[in-house]
Amino acid sequence: NPKMWSHPATVRNVATLRADGVRFVGPATGEMAESGEAGIGRMAEPLEIAAALAAMIGAAGQILVGRHVLVTSGPTHEPIDPVRYLANRSSGRQGHAIAAAAAAAGARVTLVSGPVAIPDPAGVTVVHVETALEMQDAVAKALPADVAVMTAAVADWRVAAERPSKMKKDGSGKPPALALTENPDILAGIGHDRKLRPRLVIGFAAETDDLIRHAGEKLKRKGADWIVANDVSPAGGVMGGTENTVHILSRDGSGGKVAVEDWPKLGKDAVAARLVERIARAIGEK
Ligand code: C5P
Repeated sequence: NPKMWSHPATVRNVATLRADGVRFVGPATGEMAESGEAGIGRMAEPLEIAAALAAMIGAAGQILVGRHVLVTSGPTHEPIDPVRYLANRSSGRQGHAIAAAAAAAGARVTLVSGPVAIPDPAGVTVVHVETALEMQDAVAKALPADVAVMTAAVADWRVAAERPSKMKKDGSGKPPALALTENPDILAGIGHDRKLRPRLVIGFAAETDDLIRHAGEKLKRKGADWIVANDVSPAGGVMGGTENTVHILSRDGSGGKVAVEDWPKLGKDAVAARLVERIARAIGEK
């Protein structure tokens, strides 16, 4: 009914659903079932609904049906005391977009996400974690998987001894020393796992200098099949932004050499869709 569709609460709710990626078919404009009323609110014609569904399914291409895709996303928070933590600027946008694209392609998707401010993607099993150790645990529980895409910006270090109560200034003017300890490398753990290694293991490399060289080293060190490298120098606005310029490093070069594929600057959703296509092609060939 036009009164419902124009009501501010409905307008807000529709905007929220659209922002979450929900697609709408209709409503159409015309006469209402109630006599004498007209405007926006008619149900779309069944054939129009069927055509919209067919277009959506066709566009996504059910290329990952029957596959389990594991994705990590977001930052981790490493507690210092009950009120403070160490964190980083990852928004989770790229990882969440990959999880959503894999689900749209028909995969069963487990998304292990650190604390983010964006909604859970539709049609995905989401495991919410805070710390690197919790993320490692959730990843282990989610295996086996056909594909692992490790997008999370896992903290390299955690505080060695989390304080049980809030740290206080002691009046001396001297700051407390924070001893750190290294977190496990979740990607390397999975990449080198003899029993449960997914067929395709993909890592990310966010670097501010010497991108391709560092990413190439990661490919080997972490036992990954591909590294998606992106330049996160502050000028590029990638960290927390909506666009990404990535380079795909793989072992596809002649004689097992590292091959580099440069992608143009794309929205994070478009990077995700292209990556899912590349994944489907690769596991189809393996
Ligand atoms: O070594 P660096 O943190 O730059 O490597 C980035 C890649 O490794 C990403 O794919 C990230 O998700 C993964 N990683 C991880 N566990 C860590 C550190 C990084 O899975 N402790």
